[in-house]
Amino acid sequence: MSKLSVRDLSLSGKRVLLRVDFNVPTEEKDGHTRITDDTRMKESLPTINHLRAAGAKVIIMAHFGRPKGAVNLKYTLRPVALHLSHLIEAPVGFSPECAGKVPAEMIEQMHNGDVLLLENVRFHAEEEANEVSFAKELAALGDIYVNDAFGAAHRAHASTAGIAHHVSQAAMGLLMEKELKYLQGELKDPARPFVVILGGSKVSDKIGVIKALMEKANTFLIGGAMAYTFFRALGISTGKSRVEADKVDLALEILALAKAKGVKFLLPVDNLETQEISATAQPRSTGLLSSAKGISEDWEAVDIGPETVALYRQEIAGAKTVLWNGPVGIFELAPFASGTRSIAEALAASSAVTIIGGGDSVTAVKQFGLGDKVSFCSTGGGASLELIEGKALPGVAALSQKA
Ligand code: 3PG
Repeated sequence: MSKLSVRDLSLSGKRVLLRVDFNVPTEEKDGHTRITDDTRMKESLPTINHLRAAGAKVIIMAHFGRPKGAVNLKYTLRPVALHLSHLIEAPVGFSPECAGKVPAEMIEQMHNGDVLLLENVRFHAEEEANEVSFAKELAALGDIYVNDAFGAAHRAHASTAGIAHHVSQAAMGLLMEKELKYLQGELKDPARPFVVILGGSKVSDKIGVIKALMEKANTFLIGGAMAYTFFRALGISTGKSRVEADKVDLALEILALAKAKGVKFLLPVDNLETQEISATAQPRSTGLLSSAKGISEDWEAVDIGPETVALYRQEIAGAKTVLWNGPVGIFELAPFASGTRSIAEALAASSAVTIIGGGDSVTAVKQFGLGDKVSFCSTGGGASLELIEGKALPGVAALSQKA
């Protein structure tokens, strides 16, 4: 944690270029864009409020969607500016350009404590290409750079990384600091037993994480469709469940690695199976699985079963640190949500350090109303996985070292 923090800066009267991740889910309704989950915005408020209270001029840079380097008003940040002004209960200016004369002139007019949001930086192809000239153009708009965009910190783009080399000071924001504290600090030498719950659909997405955590975890609890690739590897029939057939050898390799390292690697002992993926489906339990009795032919496994829930809850209850990434069933549909809900409840009831590593598992925990009952929910999807894997994040690496 030797990077400069926003708390170390002298801010009064300074033009602070604040990079945030406001890439939030939205929906169109009656001709208006509505933000359906503003968690990422709320999580950046401590930094925005800190800057305003210290008398900085807050110039916010962000991306929205993937407009592929061209202006596309489907991806404008204008509705986000409006929403931000409600959140901070103060006006938020909006610059329809993110670089050049237009924002420069608007910034000239700003007073200490004012907030200005710049249009989507991804309207310029130079952003994702991390072009030096564009990074310099952005840097020219401010005095100091603060990066709070943890969710985009795994991207080496002009506004997340390049810009840091063209300002006098480049510091992390309070959200960035918090993300690193939990996903790096707490997991560096976790209090043991350290239990890792992994779900989601593909083993291939999680291979880096599994290998990195194999060095630290005492127990892995596996759920979601990725479990069925392990079933296939063990000769348990999988019916019509999703299996990554080309990753069966990898699954075997992981099982062998866990054995060699003395790490407990638990797979579901039962599942819920269905013939129909719908909100009115009535799944049934498979009963205890074995190589002689697997998922039924023509049925698809969609959740962990009650025996697995009981087994996993017991492991979670005995843990001192729990990291969870990936739902254990199709929780978006009520009939298949009970496994994921039970895991979320077990984490909420635990006295361990409980970390939800971003993406769909955070959505699930929040959907069950348990977001404030766990130690930490990450705002990053890909970024949190890369950090847990032990990779350096370009958005963090580029920041100034603390003196
Ligand atoms: C995210 O939503 O995961 C981040 O904002 C990064 O977005 P990207 O995957 O489009 O780079």
